[in-house]
Amino acid sequence: MSEQPQPYSPGLAGVIAGESAICWVDPNSGLRYRGYDVEELASEASFEQVAWLILHGELPSKGELAEFNRQLVAQRTIPPAVLDILRKLPRGARAMDMLRTGVSALGSFDPDLGKVDHDANMRKSVRLLARLTPLTTSGWQILHEKNPFPGDDQPSLAERFLFGLSGKPPQPWQSDALDTILILYAEHEFNASTFAARVTASTLPDMYSCIVSAIGTLEGPLHGGANEEAMKVLEEIGSPQRAEQWVKDHLARKEKIMGFGHRVYKTGDSRVPTMRKLLQTIGKQTGQTQWLPICQKLEEVMEKEKGLFANLDLYAAPVLHLLEIPVPLNTPLFACSRVVGWAAHVTEQQDHNRIIRPRSQYTGPAPRKFVQAET
Ligand code: COA
Repeated sequence: MSEQPQPYSPGLAGVIAGESAICWVDPNSGLRYRGYDVEELASEASFEQVAWLILHGELPSKGELAEFNRQLVAQRTIPPAVLDILRKLPRGARAMDMLRTGVSALGSFDPDLGKVDHDANMRKSVRLLARLTPLTTSGWQILHEKNPFPGDDQPSLAERFLFGLSGKPPQPWQSDALDTILILYAEHEFNASTFAARVTASTLPDMYSCIVSAIGTLEGPLHGGANEEAMKVLEEIGSPQRAEQWVKDHLARKEKIMGFGHRVYKTGDSRVPTMRKLLQTIGKQTGQTQWLPICQKLEEVMEKEKGLFANLDLYAAPVLHLLEIPVPLNTPLFACSRVVGWAAHVTEQQDHNRIIRPRSQYTGPAPRKFVQAET
């Protein structure tokens, strides 16, 4: 069946590129995972409960959650051969390079490699979710020529992440704060990395190839990389008094301010209020209250100057900083959570697949004859 081309929309803005039952983003500030308000999930649920919800469509029973947690702990171990591959990367490699390479290598060790049926995809989703966190923190230690901390018995993903950096079990307030961040980062419908995962999935390759596509897409500063760039901005500004002039100078040079703007939300990112409150709480907890007023001043100036609102990354950056997570791990941490959204989308795509293959609008030369060069 031939289809009529649709009008061209740069950046696919406003284009409905598929159906999904996983998540709903309301442009007027609302975000629901499988129908549940994310703010409510962030205050009531654990990340593991939310991960199950995203993968299976319903909240887990107590028994299902206990079994899911057991599987996540049991599946954490990274094969030593994968850690050896990471050790061979040059010193200039970055944490995202370690993660991308590590996930690619992990695929070869998966007993379901190459299978794209629903059950195999669910099993791989659990393994990927279990392993991205120790892969990230082990990669970080390897980059710094240290041995990874063991810690695979840490009960939650948040605790495993923090243990992997310090070698010590975190305080409950630290793992609770990280758990909230993981919930807010878990899923966001057809964002660039998820769409990349779905495009890859639509050719029916293994899930690991789809997740590698997604990690590569997440890295850029216009998407997941913004949470690293936003921290650099906040550190450079340093005080609320400097914020207004800093923004004006950068806007005058037509530079983008990281942590602001969004393709879908035009009146504010629905995840920001929860993250802003978290920054206030852990700012008081740590005695480092300087970041909130800088962010708020930036919000005020950006709204006045450009009519733009903060996105999640503006507030995630200082919260991660207060949890003593090094800035180059901000984007890998995002991937450790978003992998659950990617995996759910890959599974949904492959369960109801049609290859994703749009058209381009040709802008090149008119047809012409080949002429052999004479000189
Ligand atoms: N700083 C300065 N100007 C910005 C801006 C920002 N963060 N975000 C958008 N703008 C400007 C655009 O340049 C454009 O200006 P113009 O009309 O003069 O050309 C205008 O605002 C409208 O942009 P819009 O169409 O809404 O952006 P987009 O949908 O193409 O891009 C983002 C969305 C997220 C990529 C973009 O806002 C951005 O680059 N933000 C910074 C990176 C970031 O925080 N990413 C994380 C997203 S969750």
